[in-house]
Amino acid sequence: MQSYIDNLYKDRPSISKAKYITETKLQDFIPVVDEDVARTLALILQISKAKQVLEIGTSIGYSTVSMAKILQQQNGRITTIEYDEVVADQAKCNFINAGINEIVDLKIGDARDILPTLESESYDLIFLDVDKTLYKPLLKTCISLLKRGGILLAEDTLFPILNLEEKWRYLIPSIEAFNQAIIKSDEIDSTILPIGDGLTIAVKKLKAH
Ligand SMILES: C[S@@+](CC[C@H](N)C(=O)[O-])C[C@H]1O[C@@H](n2cnc3c(N)ncnc32)[C@H](O)[C@@H]1O
Repeated sequence: MQSYIDNLYKDRPSISKAKYITETKLQDFIPVVDEDVARTLALILQISKAKQVLEIGTSIGYSTVSMAKILQQQNGRITTIEYDEVVADQAKCNFINAGINEIVDLKIGDARDILPTLESESYDLIFLDVDKTLYKPLLKTCISLLKRGGILLAEDTLFPILNLEEKWRYLIPSIEAFNQAIIKSDEIDSTILPIGDGLTIAVKKLKAH
């Protein structure tokens, strides 16, 4: 299924992950999203007409650039958080090269410290792609930062059923705990899209429960 989709879309104008990584000097970084996830992020931004976006987990900025290219067309902005200074410096270079630096607010620091400083109910969309052990601890804050009707996306949420490399398996209980918290939340409706390593899509309900 995946190779059919990848093949079908290979010539569509989107940001090639392979090219993005090749053109990035720093080669030692945590993996970035797959191309189909990047395409889905771009589509959801267009469908929702989101303007204010928050990304938690920048790495070298592949997903940031994929989203910022759309936000540029709809007068939007993206705030992205990364605590590794070396990786954040590389992301900044990539933002400049991609011509999107003007609309990116790169915050360097621990998401656990930065999120409480952000204004509540101010984001149209939040993309959670940070250390998986933080997903559940950050969920409540993410929901409070979203506007009503805003969208929460979380990457890697099918880890519990994937054939993961040994080195990632310790993360399964954290993702399982996040998935359980998501389905129990009265504040959001959600499902998991089986793309990439699983992409949760949730919407903050228009009315408080
Ligand atoms: C999976 S990568 C992000 C990939 C990126 N979204 C993409 O697809 O291009 C996760 C990033 O989160 C960063 N990170 C992990 N824990 C963090 C924390 N507590 N605060 C801020 N950043 C963190 C890591 O250094 C890593 O670069």
